[in-house]
Amino acid sequence: MRIFVTGATGFIGSAVVAELLGAGHQVLGLARSDSAADALARAGAEAHRGELVDLDSLAAGARACDGVAHLAFIHDFSKYQENGDIDRRAVTTMADALEGSGKPFVITSGTALIAPGRTVTEDDAATSDNPSVVRAPSEEVTLAAADRGVRSSVVRLSPSVHGPGDYAFVPALIDIARRTGVAAYVGEGTNRWSAVHRLDAARLFRLALEKAAPGTRLHGVAEEGIAVCAIAEAIGEGLGVPVRSITEDEAAAQFDWLAHFVVIDAPASSAITRETVGWQPQENGLLKDMRESGYFS
Ligand SMILES: NC(=O)c1ccc[n+]([C@@H]2O[C@H](COP(=O)([O-])OP(=O)(O)OC[C@H]3O[C@@H](n4cnc5c(N)ncnc54)[C@H](OP(=O)(O)O)[C@@H]3O)[C@@H](O)[C@H]2O)c1
Repeated sequence: MRIFVTGATGFIGSAVVAELLGAGHQVLGLARSDSAADALARAGAEAHRGELVDLDSLAAGARACDGVAHLAFIHDFSKYQENGDIDRRAVTTMADALEGSGKPFVITSGTALIAPGRTVTEDDAATSDNPSVVRAPSEEVTLAAADRGVRSSVVRLSPSVHGPGDYAFVPALIDIARRTGVAAYVGEGTNRWSAVHRLDAARLFRLALEKAAPGTRLHGVAEEGIAVCAIAEAIGEGLGVPVRSITEDEAAAQFDWLAHFVVIDAPASSAITRETVGWQPQENGLLKDMRESGYFS
């Protein structure tokens, strides 16, 4: 298949491009700059010039291909809601462009905020009445497209997608520990984050494109729940700094913008995903990856 990939130059998207090419597919990657187009050419993909807010560019990319994997997202957390709206418009445009085609359309979402405090499964819907799940409207549009002749699916990723080049929450925690000299967690630190390696996540996007049934939710979750205190201990060991429990009142000063996130209990299951598309994570788990993938260099 020839697949239109948005976010094709990103941390996970570039792994999806490599995974698709390695499996014999062709890739048309969305590129918003010359450097992105060059990176795609070096990876063996074609570039399609466009932007998430340029809806015509998205529709044209989707129509030109046999399927779409949508991974681009604007990661400016100060405009999180606005960026969720941009995502919904982009997803709506691409779903409309694929209407009646039977082509696969795979979008990206997250497991973390759907039902904090219990294990989220693929059967848990993300609904627009939960404002903290900014991609719930995108999930709804995508799943509804299954009734309009699109083989649509949602890949929800763990809050930690790890591997060399990780720039997200775990490196942010490492930076904070390096700056403050303490690897901290809040209270007992038994709240959990799920995790997946970026290469395993990439395999899941390929499987979703190849065989997900219309209207399915899939979970990119290799490890259901790692206690945040265990992540802090790995950071303490990696940096050679003390590990300490702090109170919720101290969390804002220690963690700044991550303070709300560091206390979330967000375990998630991928049992249905493994069963339905035959996904089997193969890479290192988060704690081993932190020790072996240059997180502290
Ligand atoms: N990394 C994680 O731990 C994690 C966890 C859960 C969910 N996710 C989700 O997984 C997806 C991929 O994440 P990632 O880590 O690969 O992200 P990333 O490394 O930040 O890459 C973002 C991608 O989106 C593109 N992009 C950003 N703004 C755009 C715009 N206005 N128009 C067109 N393209 C734009 C970027 O293009 P440029 O190269 O031009 O900047 C890049 O290709 C995202 O939806 C993300 O929210 C990630």
